[in-house]
Formats: sequence, structure tokens, C-alpha cells
Amino acid sequence: MSIVEIINKKSKGKELTKEEISFFVEGYVKGEIPDYQISALLMAIKLQNMTIEETSYLTEVMMHSGKVISWDFLNRLVVDKHSTGGIGDKVSITLCPLLASLGLTIAKMSGRGLGHTGGTLDKLESINGYNCFLSDKAFKENVEKHNIAIIGQTDNLVPADKKLYALRDVTGTVDSIPLIASSIMSKKLATGSHCILLDVKCGNGAFMQNIEDAKKLGSLMISIGKQLNRKVAVEITNMNEPLGKAIGNKLEVIEAIEALKNKGPKDFMDIIYSSASSLLQLAKKAKNDTEAKKLVDEALNSNKAYDKFLEWIKSQGGDITLFDNLNKWFNPKYKIEVKSNKEGYLQINNAIEFGICAMHLGAGREKKGDSIDFDAGIYLNKKSNDYVNKGDVIFTLYSSNPINKEIEERLLKSISFEKEKQNKQIVFAKLI
Ligand code: URA
Repeated sequence: MSIVEIINKKSKGKELTKEEISFFVEGYVKGEIPDYQISALLMAIKLQNMTIEETSYLTEVMMHSGKVISWDFLNRLVVDKHSTGGIGDKVSITLCPLLASLGLTIAKMSGRGLGHTGGTLDKLESINGYNCFLSDKAFKENVEKHNIAIIGQTDNLVPADKKLYALRDVTGTVDSIPLIASSIMSKKLATGSHCILLDVKCGNGAFMQNIEDAKKLGSLMISIGKQLNRKVAVEITNMNEPLGKAIGNKLEVIEAIEALKNKGPKDFMDIIYSSASSLLQLAKKAKNDTEAKKLVDEALNSNKAYDKFLEWIKSQGGDITLFDNLNKWFNPKYKIEVKSNKEGYLQINNAIEFGICAMHLGAGREKKGDSIDFDAGIYLNKKSNDYVNKGDVIFTLYSSNPINKEIEERLLKSISFEKEKQNKQIVFAKLI
């Protein structure tokens, strides 16, 4: 077998065998095949696509390129959720303790953000003391004892993805559906969970810009799950507008806490209810949406979910006394209130602009290794379809550094005011 033959075969649109896929992935991880040949193959895959079988083989080979976690010793179902990433997406921080309080077991590895706003890890690290890097032993112990742990991805988890993703990033091959599906699923499967909910964000603030591509990606990941014996559900959710009202690390933790008390913004609560229902049904804790809603209502209204959140944060070293006085914890040095010079029903259809502006305020990284200002961010005092009068505060900008006026102007240019409310949907589709 030779890598040149494999590149030629794929570039003619032919299906690769499991052996050929193992050959190129293993050869690349071991450093026996150079970047330039794998780059050519990745481009051939992007242009010619892959079948479900090829994508499943690729996922399996990548998953076994490093450590694969097993939860067999627990004798219970372990669940996980993953979002393809969006602006203001703090779902995991609310959903995971909520589900743990309802008896599900959550073992999650999350990533940092690059560009736009921070990832789940950055948000959790804004809580003083929170340890994202538990040892394997402590990770397992926490999951067993508290039903929940969220840690950073360890270096030995799917090393093939780390190498391939870095190459895709510089060869224009990130946006290939089979490559995205195998990258996400190999990491989810290596974490060992039995039931997985995938939140595929769709819109201008996401990888998937249209519903057709989001559905293709979602269905492909469900098929991979079936081939590899895992239960996978997919939700395709709106990322044309930031999720909730808070963008930025501490701001999002605060909003996640409000949601744990059932006081979050409507679009955010809608996703929490919808995702909780999908996972409760996948794990057979609820028969339908009505049963799931009853369980979620009870956990959110009784403090059960919030108490589980405190137990989880404390178990990973976080200082939970901060939450007794949120105004002291979140106290940015600079603040600008952005006021409206027009009136009408506000429409925000440009999530990406909010992500970029939040990053410029300090909430995200422009390049790998940049530090993050946990106090920086944007609060949306008004959301789409809220009526705004001239002079109303629509957004508040926060930072530890002086705020550039251009950010305010940029945000004002990215919104519109309409005479009537527009149709808005948060969950576009659910696939099982
Ligand atoms: N997220 C991943 O983990 N991999 C991709 O390829 C794209 C998004």
C-alpha cells in the first residue's frame, strides 16, 4: 500500500478501505507520512466526500490513536453533550449539573475557545480555584461520587485529531463534513460515554451556515454513533443571534447560574429544556417531552439543580463563596452603556459581530496562548423582538481595559429596528 495510491484513489472519488484509512492515519501520527501528502489527501476528501462507512472507519481509527476511557466499572449509563460552538453558549454549565441532579452521570471533556469568545474551560476557569486538569483517577472518582465532572481534554485523547486538525486549519480543509464529523465523534467516543447529545449550531456565528449542511453533519454523526454502538441525538439550533443575554466568561457563568434557578433568558431556557429532554429520553429516564419537562421544572424550581452545581464546582476546587456576592466577583473596571438612537423592534442577526466585539473587549483569544480577561464581555439588555425606544440602553460593554468607541459603533451597525416582530426559532430541528 502506498500513500500516493491512496491519494490518487480518493481524488478519483473512489471509496477507501478500512486498511487504507488505518494506513494513512497511523502513518501520519507516527510521523512516517509527511504533512504535504496528508494535505493532498485531505483536499481530495474535501472535494470528493466520504461515504458513511469511510467516515465511521476514520472515526474509529482516530479514536484508537490514543487513550480510550471506559466507564464499565460504574455499571451505569454515562452521558455527554457537545456543542459545535457558538456565541454566548454556556449550555454545558447549566445542563450538566441539571442532569446530574436528575440522576444522570456526566463525564465531559471540554475545550478552550479560539477566536470569538472563550470555551467552556475558560468560563469555568473564571471561577477562582476551579481545576480543569484532574488526574485520570480523580476524574473517575468525581464522576462516580458526584455524577459529574468537566475537565479539559487531555493530551493523550485522540492525538490523531490534534495533528489532523492543525493541518486542516492551514490547508483550507476544516469545512469538510466527514472531516468535522470524524473529528468531533472520535473525541466524544474516546471519552467513553454511552449517550451523546450533539448541539449543531447553525447560522452566521457557527461553522454550519445553513440548515441543509447542519442536517447532513447531524445525520452523519448519528450514523457513526449507530455503527459504533452509541446512542446519539442531534439538535440543530439557531446561531444567528448570540444565545441568551450574556457574552463573556464571568457574565456567562452568572447567566448559567440564573438559568439553574429557572430565571434565564427565554431562548437559553428553551435550549436547556430541549437538550435536557433529549438526553433524559436517550438515557431512558423520561418517556417523552412532557415527562422530561416535569422533571426539569422540579429540579430548577427546587434548587436541586443549583445545589448540584455548587457540589460539582466545589468538588473541582472552585470557590463557591463567590456566588454569595456576584457583584463583588464581577466588577469590571470599565463599562459603556450603548444607547439606541432609533426605535422599533430590535433585530439581531449577526452573532459573529458580537463574538468579534467580545473578543476585542478581551473575552476571547485572537491567537492561541493569548490571555483572557474574565471580566470582559457584552450584556444584551435587549434581545431580538424587544421594543426599543430612543435613548434606551440596548447593550452594556465591559472590560478591565479602556473600551474603544469603535466597538460600540460596530455593534450599532450590526443591528436593525423593524416595525413588527419577526419570526424567531431557537431549535431548528431535532434528529435521532
Ligand atoms: N469541532 C471539532 O472538534 N472538530 C472540527 O473539525 C470542527 C469543530
